[in-house]
Amino acid sequence: MTVEHTRMQEDDASPDGSAIIQAAEVVKTYDTGKVKVEALRGISLTIDRGEMVAIMGPSGCGKTTLLNCLSGLDDIDSGLVSVDGTDLSIMSDNDKTEYRARHMGFVFQFYNLLPVLSSVENVELPLLVSGVSARDSRERALEALDRVHLRDWAEHKPAELSGGQRQRVTIARSLVNNPAIVWGDEPTGDLDSTNANEIMDLLCDLNERHQQTFVLVTHALEVAERTGRIIKMQDGRIISDNRIINRAAGIWGPAAEAKTE
Ligand SMILES: Nc1ncnc2c1ncn2[C@@H]1O[C@H](COP(=O)(O)OP(=O)(O)OP(=O)(O)O)[C@@H](O)[C@H]1O
Ligand SMILES: [Mg+2]
Repeated sequence: MTVEHTRMQEDDASPDGSAIIQAAEVVKTYDTGKVKVEALRGISLTIDRGEMVAIMGPSGCGKTTLLNCLSGLDDIDSGLVSVDGTDLSIMSDNDKTEYRARHMGFVFQFYNLLPVLSSVENVELPLLVSGVSARDSRERALEALDRVHLRDWAEHKPAELSGGQRQRVTIARSLVNNPAIVWGDEPTGDLDSTNANEIMDLLCDLNERHQQTFVLVTHALEVAERTGRIIKMQDGRIISDNRIINRAAGIWGPAAEAKTE
């Protein structure tokens, strides 16, 4: 493990319960020329370091837009977003890209695997792009594949893998830089319930063991209920925000009051 690798784990993944994502009155409007869509209409929320959060709501309510705006993939019109105390809106595009590469992982459907590359080559790509040596990149990519139980599939290309295995390669790629925050947009969306459960086992385990923060958009209640907090959206607004109080008894309560399990 490289020095940088270790430092990032210590910096980014310390379970101190402090806020890692803060959003205040975030507004995002898409103007296509013909119509204006108010995708986010004043979103305020705080997510603590090490939390695992599900975002739910009907199609078109603004879930993907919220992930894009919180992660700095998209600009906001007004309000404030800070990630680990850093205001991404004042950064240049290059700095934002660099920040994301170092501190965030993405399990998005459009972040497809490259079909001509093997699993390990797909996973090591973000490291090579950010200047990590070929040897370290390979070592860390294999470590990441190990974490998703796919080390034996390192040399296989995406077409030779099942849907669940492909999704695990995507997860390995999103985790290879030990990100403080992992964003998932329907990370189990294309999978049957057995594979979806396996992916959630993996994400929950990583969340518990490494205290990484997970923000997952999902339509599936059984996926959302495995996280520690469910934020529901409608028409660009948050309509409810609940944390788990007692998992065994299935009791949830308002996030503002329920701080711990
Ligand atoms: N690039 C864009 N240009 C114009 N409008 C957009 C754009 N992206 C999203 N929208 C609009 O913003 C609203 C919120 O979209 P968003 O993709 O965030 O919804 P969502 O909750 O993720 O839906 P789904 O569950 O279907 O993925 C929708 O009305 C959508 O049409
Ligand atoms: Mg979406």
